Amino acid sequence: MSPVNEKIAKALSELGISLPEPPARVVHAPKSKKTEKSSSESTTSQTEQTEQGDKPIHVSLIMPVEPTDYVEPDWAQFLFNVWDDMDDTPGVMVDGPRGTGKTQAVMVYAARRNKPLLVCNCNQEMTPDSLLGSPRIDMKGVGGDYLQMGPIALAAKLGAVLFMDEVNYLPPATQAVNNPLMDTVQNGIFLPYTGERIEWENPKIVAAFNSGYAGTREINQAFFDRFEPLVAEYLPLRQEATLIVNRTGCEYQLAERAVRTANAIRAAAKGDNGNVMPLEFDLSPRALFSFARRVVSGKQDINRAWKEAVIGRVGSGIRRSGARETVRQLSIQIGNFQV
Ligand SMILES: Nc1ncnc2c1ncn2[C@@H]1O[C@H](COP(=O)(O)OP(=O)(O)O)[C@@H](O)[C@H]1O
Ligand SMILES: [Mg+2]
Repeated sequence: MSPVNEKIAKALSELGISLPEPPARVVHAPKSKKTEKSSSESTTSQTEQTEQGDKPIHVSLIMPVEPTDYVEPDWAQFLFNVWDDMDDTPGVMVDGPRGTGKTQAVMVYAARRNKPLLVCNCNQEMTPDSLLGSPRIDMKGVGGDYLQMGPIALAAKLGAVLFMDEVNYLPPATQAVNNPLMDTVQNGIFLPYTGERIEWENPKIVAAFNSGYAGTREINQAFFDRFEPLVAEYLPLRQEATLIVNRTGCEYQLAERAVRTANAIRAAAKGDNGNVMPLEFDLSPRALFSFARRVVSGKQDINRAWKEAVIGRVGSGIRRSGARETVRQLSIQIGNFQV
């Protein structure tokens, strides 16, 4: 076991769970100190709900492994080279559409520093307590009361980089409570319910959101101010096309045609093409990987693959019909797809 894995294993064992052998890439976070023994060794990321109806804490732990095909985008240079030295600013707030590689960049950032990554998907039900930890009553009566650790306390305990995804969904009160915490996080974390102090050496917290759509929840300005702002953008055309080729084995020409078309759709999504309404549709490289894989498998022709993998992702509902038609038109005009 590498030193970092030993550290994680020790922290996890204090929480009542042990690392599977060989270590799985994703280990689901413990629900509690006392009621979880070996059952948390899951490698899936399903969330658990207990009999007494505890809110699951939406976190996954990712071991530090750098993907072999990672391309370093310009926007992520700040993350890798500048922010890392900014000891007095432990947080970065990345804003960008789906598929710009926010999650991937944070995984690589953590892996390069040999730290695990704790991923927390924020939601509107997260209370101020749930970020740090909240008391629970053990209804089965076996272990008494316990503290359900929140993502911030867990990250501190594991020495992990903390990734708070979709942070704009946190209720304003929860964002506000986070502010003093962000100001003092270098001095460790204090858990008011147990009186425990957790040291957190070189804390690093990345928050991500997508401000692109009209109607998405705004971020509280005081909260935003605690983080260094960073705007994520899609990879340059040649790099994204090469990535598709490397992942799927398709022809470069086909990958470039897909990315060129995708970029037109992405511009429309931002409202850049003079469209009356932004599309409210993020075209992630995942859709393009899927398109290319379908073609490479030989089971679908190019047009059918594009229709299902890309246009199919817009959604079929009546409310999506405008967006779907725009995507279809751009697919015909730019990509010459017969859809
Ligand atoms: N710079 C990159 N190098 C290699 N693959 C990338 C890069 N950026 C994104 N990807 C791939 O594109 C997909 C979407 O990336 P992801 O990090 O999930 O985006 P986001 O979190 O912004 O929605 C994933 O399959 C990821 O592996
Ligand atoms: Mg993501």
